[in-house]
Amino acid sequence: MSLIKTISLPSIGDGRGELVAIEGLKTIPFEIARVYYLMQLNEHARGFHAHKKLKQVVICLHGSCRFVLDDGVKREQIILDNPNTALFIENMTWREMYDFKNECVILVLADTYYDEADYIRDYDDFLRLSRQRIQELANEID
Ligand code: TYD
Repeated sequence: MSLIKTISLPSIGDGRGELVAIEGLKTIPFEIARVYYLMQLNEHARGFHAHKKLKQVVICLHGSCRFVLDDGVKREQIILDNPNTALFIENMTWREMYDFKNECVILVLADTYYDEADYIRDYDDFLRLSRQRIQELANEID
């Protein structure tokens, strides 16, 4: 199964411009607890962490950027350059963000409040925890 899960966000356009509406538990698969945005991005890559529980939806509102997602087994990437396409990032997914272009602005919707304890910031810790999780899931199936 691909790590790249996108959600289509259709515009409502009527000649005056475009409007996109996002509703928690309807458009996106969780209730929205937190919204933040990234702007004035530069050549520095960002991310390099996973979340133990947090789920997020990411929308590139302007410009473009490249997201790399990694579940501890495979790595996949997507270029976000369209505000009508959201990227859903599950928990226990390592993410890296690169190549911010054309005054990229990234909107993030999250299902919980900010909690530094939910972050996994070390890639080796992430690999260890994700393998442990896969083993636990396999044990539940047996
Ligand atoms: P971080 O999530 O590490 O940024 P990125 O993944 O984009 O590189 O967050 C950067 C800093 O901002 C870090 O010190 C934590 C802080 N922060 C908050 O205080 N609240 C938030 O909701 C978020 C997302 C980050």
